[in-house]
Amino acid sequence: MTHKPDFHSHPVALITGAARRLGAAMAEFLHLQGFDLVLHYFHSGPEAEALAQRLNGRRADSVHLVRADLSDPIAVRELANRALRSFGRLDALINNASQFFPTPIATATDQDWERLFHTNLRAPYILSQALSEALKAHQGCIINIADVYAHRPLKEHSLYNASKAALVSLTQSLAQELAPDIRVNAIAPGAILWPDQTGAEADSTNTVPASYQQAILQKVALGRLGTPEDIARAAWFLIAEAPYITGQILNVDGGRTLTI
Ligand SMILES: NC(=O)c1ccc[n+]([C@@H]2O[C@H](COP(=O)([O-])OP(=O)(O)OC[C@H]3O[C@@H](n4cnc5c(N)ncnc54)[C@H](OP(=O)(O)O)[C@@H]3O)[C@@H](O)[C@H]2O)c1
Repeated sequence: MTHKPDFHSHPVALITGAARRLGAAMAEFLHLQGFDLVLHYFHSGPEAEALAQRLNGRRADSVHLVRADLSDPIAVRELANRALRSFGRLDALINNASQFFPTPIATATDQDWERLFHTNLRAPYILSQALSEALKAHQGCIINIADVYAHRPLKEHSLYNASKAALVSLTQSLAQELAPDIRVNAIAPGAILWPDQTGAEADSTNTVPASYQQAILQKVALGRLGTPEDIARAAWFLIAEAPYITGQILNVDGGRTLTI
């Protein structure tokens, strides 16, 4: 793929699913560290606009937005093209966007399979493929956001679990294939934000029953949820502080994988 000559002085990251929650936390953190950002979103237009406006208020023209449905491979390739055209360079790709919902084997459909695998696995692959030349030019890196459930499955979520296990495998394969120019790693979060809970409401509003929350937290060695900033710090570590680390899966889970 061709991209503009490198004239842009700030490093640039593309983050998928960046309007809210963990994606938005990584965007805030990288921006504070001096990154310019291409932020992808799909349905969360108002949240994406608000985030971009806030960050552009801190540093003019430092954040561009791109909307795309990651289940559509043509749209994913167009996202890659638009990301490259945004600032003319790319240093980091964070595949964060994800579908998450139960798929009990008695009722799971072909459409469930497609939604989960196309967004959670195929889109990260296409973006890695389309952006590898640009990343290589800056000895860049790819971070895939996986899940501790990739290898310790969450009951009745077999398709989600499998999509994340495949993303872990893809991380290792691409780390091998894209070395030595591009490092490829994954972060496997444990319990950070309950589903449907916004980052701002982390301790107050959610749709997950208290008993279920307690059952999960009992399995976390540190006895509490992580924060979106924990994930952002891990991403920053892999981007900026880990030049000799590739093909690794970093669990950020408060010790949850010690017990599940
Ligand atoms: N939250 C946790 O505690 C936790 C735990 C383990 C792993 N993780 C992983 O960490 C990452 C972030 O977690 P999260 O809870 O912040 O994620 P999330 O809120 O469930 O999803 C992040 C974003 O993905 C985007 N997305 C989903 N399907 C899409 C599609 N077909 N096309 C385009 N965008 C799509 C959505 O963007 P729009 O809203 O703009 O549509 C959504 O806001 C995910 O990969 C998740 O699997 C999270």
